[in-house]
Amino acid sequence: MTRQLLSLAWSTPTNWARAVSSDEHELLCDHAHCELRAAASAQGLVTHNPEASELVDCLLRLAQEELRHFRQVVDLLRELGGELHRMQGNPYADGLLKSSLPSRGSVLLDRLLISGLIEERSHERFSLLAEHAVAPQLRALFAELMPSEAGHARLFERLALELLPRAKVERRAAELVSIEAQVMSGLAFSVRMHSGTVGLE
Ligand SMILES: [Fe+2]
Ligand SMILES: [Fe+2]
Repeated sequence: MTRQLLSLAWSTPTNWARAVSSDEHELLCDHAHCELRAAASAQGLVTHNPEASELVDCLLRLAQEELRHFRQVVDLLRELGGELHRMQGNPYADGLLKSSLPSRGSVLLDRLLISGLIEERSHERFSLLAEHAVAPQLRALFAELMPSEAGHARLFERLALELLPRAKVERRAAELVSIEAQVMSGLAFSVRMHSGTVGLE
């Protein structure tokens, strides 16, 4: 079995899950946007790498899956009496991009590894929510979505290893794992899937 390159170096405490799920409409709205962004980002990778046929096939499938997740999240949001609205920026994704730029070598490698890390962080958050979210409907939704996020992180890892030299992938993965931990551990708490815990009681 190959070693997992994208393992998180900072773990979210469980009290985050109860706090973030106390506003279920806002959390689901934010999460719906995350699913949509994941689909758009996979399509962007296909647009920029059309000659990489394995990447094209895998990421088109992934984009379709993320859109199905989007549908599921929006359905539950509406069932619970909420509605979608616009969200302002994304401090986590923006922070990751900004902190990783100075040391970036390959654009493709960073896009694959950062996408994989975001999936890995989402998987961690889903597992916390599946157990500790306040509403049972949220616990059920995240328990259902959880396995596919773990699969997505592994998929990005595998694509990186297929398209780029292993030593380069391993080195950059280690750097990005530590950048991600620094960014995440420094973020303030808010009702968002990728919020931090600074300021959380
Ligand atoms: Fe998803
Ligand atoms: Fe995903």
